[in-house]
Amino acid sequence: MTENNNVKVTPWDVEGVVDYDKLIKQFGVKYITDEQKKYLKELAKKKGLKEHIFIKRNLFFAQMDLDKVIDSHKKGEPIFLYTGRAPGGSMHIGHLIPFMFTKYLQDLFDCNLYIQIPDDEKFLFKKDLNQKKINEMVKSDLDDISAIGFNPDKTFIFKNTKFIQKMYPLILETSKRITFSQARNTFGFEGNSNIGQIFYPSLQIVPTFFEKGFCLIPCAIDQNPYFLLQRDFAEKLGYKKNCTILSKFLTSLTGPEGKMSASNSDKAILLTDEPSQVKKKINKYAFSGGKPTLEEHRKEGGNCDIDVSFQWLYNLFESDDNKIEEIRKEYSSGNMLSGEIKKLLIEKINYLLTLHREAKDEAKDSGLLEKYMKTGKLAKTMWEREF
Ligand code: TYM
Repeated sequence: MTENNNVKVTPWDVEGVVDYDKLIKQFGVKYITDEQKKYLKELAKKKGLKEHIFIKRNLFFAQMDLDKVIDSHKKGEPIFLYTGRAPGGSMHIGHLIPFMFTKYLQDLFDCNLYIQIPDDEKFLFKKDLNQKKINEMVKSDLDDISAIGFNPDKTFIFKNTKFIQKMYPLILETSKRITFSQARNTFGFEGNSNIGQIFYPSLQIVPTFFEKGFCLIPCAIDQNPYFLLQRDFAEKLGYKKNCTILSKFLTSLTGPEGKMSASNSDKAILLTDEPSQVKKKINKYAFSGGKPTLEEHRKEGGNCDIDVSFQWLYNLFESDDNKIEEIRKEYSSGNMLSGEIKKLLIEKINYLLTLHREAKDEAKDSGLLEKYMKTGKLAKTMWEREF
């Protein structure tokens, strides 16, 4: 946990304008290096893929021990991926980021992937949520995750409340090695934190022990504290220290403070938003770097550094360097208006969401979720395994 100058970053909350240079030091992680980017780019080329826009534009910007994963992969040793999603609200476009990137990494490394659905986490951390509400949310989250296109024989998706029996011996080993002081220092627990919250970190750490090779975890940087803690005792248990690849936060539509959150759904783009809702939200809320009057804008131009539409196009959607630089030039010279850059973004978001909805329907029709959770090759082995 880090908290200073009204900026707070925990796995549950992000407040204020995050200074990533500072956060990197406070969280004990490092920037992704050019060498690491080069390796991923070459690997992509071999697989007939392009460098991912999230890497190219530094949305994924930090890491812990990515070199170890790369070295291990070079030697042909097995590595594995692990990520997760805690149901507790509607999924928004920010939540898609780690999943889309994880799918890309699975294609690159052709490795196993474990997706944890901690259907206990938000119940413990959010006062107003009951288990019935969460169970309803689990279903729709699972459909969204099934739409991403993970390899059905190399992906295991599990809910904590169901898989806990299998994981329990490892949970015991883990929880015995984390003291209350460590948990308090890492997560900021206080006297009124419920004891479920204090126990929960061991559940999020355990999947890093599902295999003996290096575990690479793609997620936003808010989740790193769990994985930093894992490194204190993983080797004592006979496993490797886990490795992470970390993204910045997609902020709310209104600007640079905090992270996008479903609890402020007007200012977030939800995966269920219809094209007309996307249009309305972007036109109404997407923070503009344009000038207040047409005259001023034509004369002085817009500021791309603070314009949410430009930032989203840059970080998420427009991977063609020439096209994005052309947009930058046109907007900052005043030739392109705020309404025009918003229109570009609306088209891109609606295209992504339409594809996502189609993939979701297809996944439902083909029973893909059943494969990820029960019948696929990896899922089957996991249910048969003893830990
Ligand atoms: P959750 O459900 O809050 O978020 C799911 C994933 O989305 C990332 N994320 C974001 N990324 C970019 N911009 C945002 N605005 C944004 N909001 C959320 C999160 O970092 C996360 O990767 N405790 C976890 C669930 C979990 C998990 C894991 C996550 C269990 N095991 C292993 C990562 C890796 C949670 O509450 O995520």
